[in-house]
Amino acid sequence: MRKMTFLLVAAVATAGVVAFTAPTTGSAEQEAAPVYRIKIFPGYRDWKLISVAHEAGNLNDLRAVLGNDIAVKAYREGKLPFPDGAVIARLSWEYVPSEENNKVFGREQSFVAGPQPEWYLQFMVKDSRKYAASGGWGYAQFDKNGKPANEAKHNTCFPCHVPIKDRDYVFTQYAP
Ligand code: HEC
Repeated sequence: MRKMTFLLVAAVATAGVVAFTAPTTGSAEQEAAPVYRIKIFPGYRDWKLISVAHEAGNLNDLRAVLGNDIAVKAYREGKLPFPDGAVIARLSWEYVPSEENNKVFGREQSFVAGPQPEWYLQFMVKDSRKYAASGGWGYAQFDKNGKPANEAKHNTCFPCHVPIKDRDYVFTQYAP
């Protein structure tokens, strides 16, 4: 009986871990995004912060731009172009008022990160040979469930980043 209980606890615990990490692990089931064949990078949520931004209009989001160690090192050293292996992630959340905070401030002034919008996650991946045709960067976009956007969507990425070619196609500047 004791053994049964142990097995049951172990099974439940394992299921919990799998369910919790499924969208972000880059496991076998993780579907690669079209065009550049990029998968979600495991552990991206623990990467270092490069900067934050707010987009109004239809997007109406708050976003954080994070980098892996290679990207963050290049940013801090002011090194351009970014070296191969640099990866930059863009995460976003709905821009929502915080009643809780407003109550404390005594006025309507507080906005915070709300739920993940549909297109929560984007990556730019530097590989100057593999992605030579798109300025050395591969692009990928995933929804909040980890499903990649379609091919047409991925064909819009590089052309829109071309105006910032002088900074190696990267808009976001390091916030010290
Ligand atoms: C309409 C033009 C446009 C399109 C299309 C576009 N981007 Fe961007 N992207 C921007 C701008 C402007 C920024 C900086 C502002 C911001 O973060 O919202 C940015 C920021 C980023 C960043 C953070 C690094 C940086 O350059 O600042 C990533 C990663 C990114 N985009 C990936 C993608 C991917 C992947 C796609 C395609 C699925 C894509 N972008 C399509 C304009 C665009």
